[in-house]
Amino acid sequence: MTMPSVKPLLTSEQIRDRVTDLADLVSRDYAGKELLAIGILKGAFIFFADLVRLIRVPVTVDFITASSYLKDSSSGKLQIYCDIREKVTDKHVLLIDDIIDTGISLDAIRNRLLSQNPASLRICVLVDKKERRLVEVPVDYIGFEVPDVFIVGYGIDFDNHYRNLPYIAFL
Ligand code: IMP
Ligand code: MG
Repeated sequence: MTMPSVKPLLTSEQIRDRVTDLADLVSRDYAGKELLAIGILKGAFIFFADLVRLIRVPVTVDFITASSYLKDSSSGKLQIYCDIREKVTDKHVLLIDDIIDTGISLDAIRNRLLSQNPASLRICVLVDKKERRLVEVPVDYIGFEVPDVFIVGYGIDFDNHYRNLPYIAFL
């Protein structure tokens, strides 16, 4: 299959440095606490793995497989394919995603988790496409703000391709 060419936007080094910053902020904010890190699959898998390895407080993990995206346009509705297994009640939950775009996915997942009364719930995203937001969602940790361009790599896909690119590029 012929793939469209990609143009680098964020290098592996830039991503690594910023993920280290985020892990430092998380470690400081959760000092003395234990964290339940919940990754949103598939897009967050690489960011999640890199981030949790740099966090210096006790961490347990879980994942939710969900999407509100079909190819490159938002379907606007969240579909959950595989839910979390851990109980979040009374836990300090950090929800980790690759990108916040319209905010629809994170808003829906956040509300599902809040209904189980966690001790706290914060959100961490690698990339924020602020200008595309349709739903206001409180995001506590943001790696990079990018304009409204379609990006791939470092876990982020186009039609499930390009996730293994070690850097972030735009198509
Ligand atoms: P939202 O519900 O519109 O905020 O959708 C967020 C999700 O859409 C992200 O977790 C990504 O999986 C996907 N997404 C948003 N922008 C892009 C992009 O530029 N490339 C690939 N996936 C994207
Ligand atoms: Mg996603």
